[in-house]
Amino acid sequence: MQNNNNSRRNFLKTALTVSVVAATSTQRLLAEDDNGSSSNDKDKGKRGNVQGLFPVKINDFPALKTVNGSAQVPVPNLSRKMIVTRTSQSEFVAVSGECTHEQCQVEAFDASSMRIICDCHGSRYDVKGIVQAGSPATKNLQQFSTTYTSGADTVFVNVPGFVATSAKNDAQITTAVEQNFPNPAVGMTTIEYSVAEPTKVSIIVYSFLGKEIIRLVDKFHEPGIYKVQCNASALGNGVYLYRMSTSEGFVQTRKLTISQ
Ligand code: FES
Repeated sequence: MQNNNNSRRNFLKTALTVSVVAATSTQRLLAEDDNGSSSNDKDKGKRGNVQGLFPVKINDFPALKTVNGSAQVPVPNLSRKMIVTRTSQSEFVAVSGECTHEQCQVEAFDASSMRIICDCHGSRYDVKGIVQAGSPATKNLQQFSTTYTSGADTVFVNVPGFVATSAKNDAQITTAVEQNFPNPAVGMTTIEYSVAEPTKVSIIVYSFLGKEIIRLVDKFHEPGIYKVQCNASALGNGVYLYRMSTSEGFVQTRKLTISQ
């Protein structure tokens, strides 16, 4: 029985692909291999895709899972919720949610009328924010460029003035582990976590009954924001827990659902 347990654990350790990406307060991204050595060049492209872009995770907005689905998305530096609409399997359109008539919040895109409507005085826009004839508004909604990343199932929206999470100052960083995405996990899933002070960090995945399955992270960290990826396809369907703990006494647990 002991040998079976050891075999299963060794299999999982081999099958799970783990990589760590660290984004420090100096906006430096480092990719670290399992030995802790850095490979800065490897992630330069990844940095260009993330910094300054507002991420919209599809799992957080179920309406965006279907074509013509639309959602109002809050953005920290915008006074009105942005309107994001899925126009095809791989294309999204994002526009300001602030009506150009008297700055009311507009509704999400309505697929039946094919319009974005402002309920205040009846202005109407098409999916790209082009104002329609007969509207009290005379100007288009501001449009933002988008990039869809299918692996993370996330739309990155270029919102002017938005400061990306990875560009936070040290003073803004708290120690925490975020909900993995996508969740439920299918194939690769990503867990973002942050460290406020120099400390040793462990992130361990447990079965729902508390048995240790895999140790994703187990080493010293400088303050910063990090990501760890794991290949959830090596685990069976079900509900798991992952726990981040530090040598300074911080502990936080989250639930991971795997649905292949
Ligand atoms: S504020 Fe939108 S129609 Fe007047």
